[in-house]
Parts: sequence; structure tokens; C-alpha cells
Amino acid sequence: MRIGILGTGTLATALATAWTRAGHDISIAGRSPQRTDAAANMSGAHARQLPDIADHVDVVLLCVHWEGITDILTAAGAPAGTLAGKPLIDPTNAVDHGIGVLRTDPGRAIAHHVADLAPGAHVVKALHLFPSTQWTTPAPTPVTVAMCGDDPEAVEIVGSLVRDIGGIPAVLGGLDRARQLEEVAGFVITLAFAAVDPQSAIPAVAQPLPQP
Ligand SMILES: NC(=O)c1ccc[n+]([C@@H]2O[C@H](COP(=O)([O-])OP(=O)(O)OC[C@H]3O[C@@H](n4cnc5c(N)ncnc54)[C@H](OP(=O)(O)O)[C@@H]3O)[C@@H](O)[C@H]2O)c1
Repeated sequence: MRIGILGTGTLATALATAWTRAGHDISIAGRSPQRTDAAANMSGAHARQLPDIADHVDVVLLCVHWEGITDILTAAGAPAGTLAGKPLIDPTNAVDHGIGVLRTDPGRAIAHHVADLAPGAHVVKALHLFPSTQWTTPAPTPVTVAMCGDDPEAVEIVGSLVRDIGGIPAVLGGLDRARQLEEVAGFVITLAFAAVDPQSAIPAVAQPLPQP
């Protein structure tokens, strides 16, 4: 697939590298041309400019610090509809590291803000829980990637991209579950910064429970 990545930082470069290795065609763009070139060189992606990246891709990954979301989506023309009809993956965490409290209004997910800024795009919340190194140096056991989104085809596409980099997709439901998924990241981040393994804070389920 042709995947466009908005952002040139740690997670953007790791996912660009992993998807390039999996045989996908990656375009990357950020606000700094120098950092865009560096991320492209490191990952094997094409360096693009924000205003025209949407012309080159079928799927978009939004991968910036949450305070930069409005700026980068605006620079990519999303409010004018450039991402309409495309899956838009949102792995962002609007939390203060070390504290883990969400910075969005109660009941509201950052994914909803992303959807408002990108009319017509099919937002899928995914890939926000694991550190970037999971995708460049995968753990021996595949990880489950919880995700949600309203458009079934977009969710299916993102699920296949997750499989391509060694994850197992688990779809929780529509985008109304995004706040819950984002709160889980806050929970994980809080424990991790308290030197507690978050996996030790959830029950191990030896046998799957019957369907309700
Ligand atoms: N790193 C991880 O392991 C990880 C895991 C899960 C989720 N995430 C989430 O993924 C997102 C990116 O994290 P990261 O670790 O890759 O961060 P990072 O390395 O600090 O990179 C942040 C990116 O955001 C860009 N940015 C910040 N403000 C911007 C603005 N106003 N306009 C345009 N671009 C702006 C930066 O551009 P400049 O370089 O030009 O400043 C850079 O490309 C975050 O939302 C984070 O919560 C990260």
C-alpha cells in the first residue's frame, strides 16, 4: 500500500521502517525539510512536502506530538478535504508523560479532534500503546493491537497493516471507544513511569471467556 506519514519523529520513523521492510511504499513529511529528509533516509521512505503528500498515498498515519496535530493536519490540507475517503491512523497520546492524565475534555478523545480536523477521513485509533521499538525490533511473541474506528473497510486495512509488522489486531468497536483506548495509554504510561510493569496490573486470562 501507499502509506503517508505526517511527522518525522521516533514513532514515525520506526513505523516507516517497519512498513518499508514489509514491502509498502512510504511517503513521509514533517514541518522541517531537514528532519523529513533524515527520516526518509533512515527508513527508506520518500521525502514529501506536507501540502501534496495526500496526492501520493492511500492511507495516512498521523504521528506528531498532540499539540502539533492541528498544525500538521492543516498543513496537509485535511480541513479542506485532502484526506477524505482515506483511512487515517491516529496513534497519538494526548497525555503528559509521567502523569498519564488525558489532556482532552472529559468524554472526548483526541481521535474525535482528529476526525473534526479531517472531514471525510476514516479515523482509526491504533498503534498508540506500544513503544516504537516494538515495530523495529518486535518482541518474540506477537502483540495484540487494540483499535477502533467507524468505517469497516478502513479498520480492515489498518488491521492488515498491523499484521504486516507483527501485530494481531483486536477491534473494540467504533470511534466512540477511542476515549477508552486513550485512557488505557494513560494507565500504561502512569505505571511505566512509576517503574511498574503495566502487564502485572491486569489479570492474565488463561482461557478466553464465552461470547456474551
Ligand atoms: N515514541 C513512541 O514510542 C510512541 C508510542 C506510541 C504513541 N506515540 C505517540 O506518537 C506521537 C509521536 O511521538 P514520537 O515519540 O514520535 O514524538 P517525537 O519523536 O518527539 O516527534 C514528534 C513529532 O511531532 C512533530 N511536531 C510537534 N509539534 C508540531 C507542530 N506544531 N507542527 C508539526 N509537527 C509537529 C515533530 O516535528 P519537529 O521534529 O519538527 O519538532 C516531530 O515530527 C505522539 O503523539 C506520541 O504520544 C509515540
